Amino acid sequence: MSNATDETFISQLLAQMTLEEKIGQLNQINPGDEFDPSLLQEGKAGSLINASGALTGMGFSDSGSAELSNHFQKLTLESRLKIPLIFGRDVIHGFRTVFPIPLAQAAAFDPDLARQAASIAAREATTSGIKWTFAPMLDIARDPRWGRVAEGNGEDPFLGSQMATAIVQGFQGEDISAPDKLVACAKHYVGYGAAEGGRDYENGEISEPTLRDIYLPPFRAAVEAGAGTLMSAFIDLNGIPATANRRLLTDVLRGEWGFDGFVVSDWESIKELIHHGVAEDDAHAARLALQAGLDMDMVSGVYLNTLGESLRQGKISMEEIDEAVRRILRIKHRAGLFDHPFTDPLRATRDLLTPESRDLARQFARQSMVLLKNDRDLLPFKDFRRILVAGPFVHARGELFGTWTPDGRAEDVTPLDEALRQTAPKGTELWFTENVDMALHLAHQADAVLLLLGEHPVRSGENCNVSDLGLPPGQAEFVQAMTALGKPLALVVFAGRPLAITQQVKVADAVLYAWHPGIEGGAALGEILFGQASPSGRLPITFPRATGQVPIYYNHKNSGRPIDPNGEFKTRYLDLPPSPLFPFGFGLTYTRFEYSNLKLSAETLRGALEINAEITNIGTSPGTEVVQLYVRDLVGSLTRPIRELKGFQRVELQPGETCRVTFTLREEDLAFTRADGTFGVEPGSFHVWIASDSKSGLNGHFRL
Ligand code: BGC
Repeated sequence: MSNATDETFISQLLAQMTLEEKIGQLNQINPGDEFDPSLLQEGKAGSLINASGALTGMGFSDSGSAELSNHFQKLTLESRLKIPLIFGRDVIHGFRTVFPIPLAQAAAFDPDLARQAASIAAREATTSGIKWTFAPMLDIARDPRWGRVAEGNGEDPFLGSQMATAIVQGFQGEDISAPDKLVACAKHYVGYGAAEGGRDYENGEISEPTLRDIYLPPFRAAVEAGAGTLMSAFIDLNGIPATANRRLLTDVLRGEWGFDGFVVSDWESIKELIHHGVAEDDAHAARLALQAGLDMDMVSGVYLNTLGESLRQGKISMEEIDEAVRRILRIKHRAGLFDHPFTDPLRATRDLLTPESRDLARQFARQSMVLLKNDRDLLPFKDFRRILVAGPFVHARGELFGTWTPDGRAEDVTPLDEALRQTAPKGTELWFTENVDMALHLAHQADAVLLLLGEHPVRSGENCNVSDLGLPPGQAEFVQAMTALGKPLALVVFAGRPLAITQQVKVADAVLYAWHPGIEGGAALGEILFGQASPSGRLPITFPRATGQVPIYYNHKNSGRPIDPNGEFKTRYLDLPPSPLFPFGFGLTYTRFEYSNLKLSAETLRGALEINAEITNIGTSPGTEVVQLYVRDLVGSLTRPIRELKGFQRVELQPGETCRVTFTLREEDLAFTRADGTFGVEPGSFHVWIASDSKSGLNGHFRL
């Protein structure tokens, strides 16, 4: 949090600033075609977005980006007070080294890997002069139609909070002024994932308890981890657009949580307050946002163009402007920009795409893939001489990246077919084709068939929403056609969201969900398919059987007529079982685990309780299990979720090996937003599970 050096420095600087210079700091510019560099010399920009690499349209040589940002910084330092720019960019799941998409990262259930990946992304991105990333994206998503589900950590607030902490720490390190660290931006604050119908930018309604207990916790975790900035969401939440929501931006964020960094709007979202129908013109929109606690205007220009006049008319105060400027200067100062405004262009030659970065990307990709089905242990492939590999992804390169990778380069990726060839055991022939007819022809002579299917990256991400969660057109037919021959059939699905692949899961012998696995995705996949590695990912989000089941999530409430497939007047669909296709937390591997001997350290939780169970590898190969802890509060002043994740641990076990996994549950872990609006626990009975997913497990109980 703020220290004395920051504050004295800022106060002295603020005292010298003219109104125009102050407003300039609140303005973020996109240096596109009509960009006038004199704005920088006049101190009219506090930040540039996308000022480097491909998005400037100036190509990207390794050192060129640093030279370009240094050029902009030099112009800025010609301004009267020489306040440096902060360069921002979307470094979402890696920079040049592209890691798996965030949803896949969550599937690894290993926040420490996410911390390491963020730290590499920071080292790489800062070589371009970028000092601020618009990540992590912390939006809880219960609706996979929404394209941005790919960018977040899924549906669970506990997992989402663990990821938030780790990623913020990875980007920012101990000291964000270090040349290889980035200022993080927790986004999109808040409720953005609740957009109605899964339509991006749409409005949403979230009750106060659900907002507090489900949507806000990852943001709070990011703030507690020291995130320097937040971005407001595009959404109109409960009738107040997040960009103008004073209660959330000021009362909760600053008042309750003590956040002292700054908030940036989303792209033109201040100006969009007019479309939302809460502001009549630019000046009104700017006033609403500033007074709500929104400090920096991302590219709409309305702060720059209207705040001065609003001040002269007495509609806003100098204190309000000063406070926003103060927060921005605080983060710039903390990020070391006043002392080190420039970037050494040579760093790009050392710090991009190192062998260690690639190794981590491969490990992360391996850990994030989720084995959903494996009948008769088809995977890993063994004893097959000829394997037909078919489908639209056989030659994938840049397609493995997923959404939001402006700095990844397809030529850095080993094409999927080549990667599989490199990892297949000697003596195994792989035949590749994208063509259905050719595949049918070749399949006759093959011993097994592997189909590589799923979504192209442009089908997920911002505003890439779908109304149908099935495979893209033609692929279901492809799978169906390949089943006709009765050959062993494995599917690998690449996707930015859970797809409703009910029929394909039924007909295939094995299904591996690979998400968009990043730059080393091909090798990671090969290692899993051919048994050099075993899958250990788990679903960070519920997989529906059909689009019509959405929203469907594990931590729902019970209702007065709980789900019962046989109950005529119980919650149900007439045309679908009530359960999901795969529950949250689910994932198989090449061995099996048995859970036994659940023990609780006491019948009553006083302060804390230890819960443990024995996990045994009862198969014949080593494997990693993600052991999960769930609780249920049986009676509350408000209805409570039927399960809530409270812990997880990855354990690696040799065949026959047993280990005892222990979790500590503290009283505060059971707190929630109660009927009277306060946050705390309520005494009573609780269920607890140590489980391999959100639907199974050993069950015990305790009292509080
Ligand atoms: C997105 C943000 C992103 C910003 C800057 C917006 O359209 O919603 O997530 O950070 O653009 O590129």
